[in-house]
Amino acid sequence: MDKYCVFGNPIAHSKSPDIHAAFAAATGQQLTYEKRLAPLDAFAQAVQAFIAEGGRGANVTVPFKLEAYRLANALTVRAQAAGAVNTLLFDEHGITGDNTDGAGLVADITANAGVPIAGKRVLLLGAGGAARGAVLPILEHRPAALVIANRTVATAEALVQQFAPLGGEGVVSACGFAGIDGRFDIVINATSASLQADLPPIPASVFREGTLALDMMYGKEPTVFMQFAAAHGAIVRDGLGMLVEQAAEAFHGWRGVRPATAEVLAKLR
Ligand code: ATR
Repeated sequence: MDKYCVFGNPIAHSKSPDIHAAFAAATGQQLTYEKRLAPLDAFAQAVQAFIAEGGRGANVTVPFKLEAYRLANALTVRAQAAGAVNTLLFDEHGITGDNTDGAGLVADITANAGVPIAGKRVLLLGAGGAARGAVLPILEHRPAALVIANRTVATAEALVQQFAPLGGEGVVSACGFAGIDGRFDIVINATSASLQADLPPIPASVFREGTLALDMMYGKEPTVFMQFAAAHGAIVRDGLGMLVEQAAEAFHGWRGVRPATAEVLAKLR
């Protein structure tokens, strides 16, 4: 049977095996998908060992997405733009690196939440790896504006420089949290602040009634960002939908079949 896995450290909490098992069952694909704890200093060796065992592909999670980017000998356009890899494909061409996180985010917003991005004002909080992967997929949906706000403004400005020539000219701009101006239709928290139960210091005036506020994080309780957004009229979502959608995109890349996601997402909730 074709073998897949997810590499991370820690990895015990990963929901990916359940998600991919559900996709495989629903699409009639014969495969196995397991968790692999890669040592912090031996990610490449862990991948090579899996390939030697006949592995066909893998997902990569924290903290190995940059290493996976460096390890791949070929990259998809979106992995190149993201500067990070969350999906590996092993075949006769070697190791191909892809990044399905941004596509997963956009699918969750447009298909699951039912909110079109085209013509909308989008605020992206953060400018690290998670934010960077989201920029190109968002721009491909032609928002009216994409404002990238970050604690370190220079990092957000660097993203503007990178993406202005890739469809972001006149659309994408950068600022610090205090400099955020106006209301937004979609606000995405791509900072890691929620991990420390922290709230990026954004003005409440970014939200209007019905703004979609999405935190890439998820947990048992709504994040502080989700609580803040909901208190100011936003419709809130956590990162579970994005998780399932990025998995579906990876599954499609590996197997050539696109699994339905609604049932899997409902079961995870
Ligand atoms: P990830 O891969 O999760 O994106 P990262 O590349 O380390 O991780 O990026 C973390 C992001 O969260 C950055 O945008 C960081 O802001 P800085 O660039 O100023 O460091 C942001 N971040 C982390 N903790 C934060 C906090 N407590 N408040 C606001 N932003 C925070």
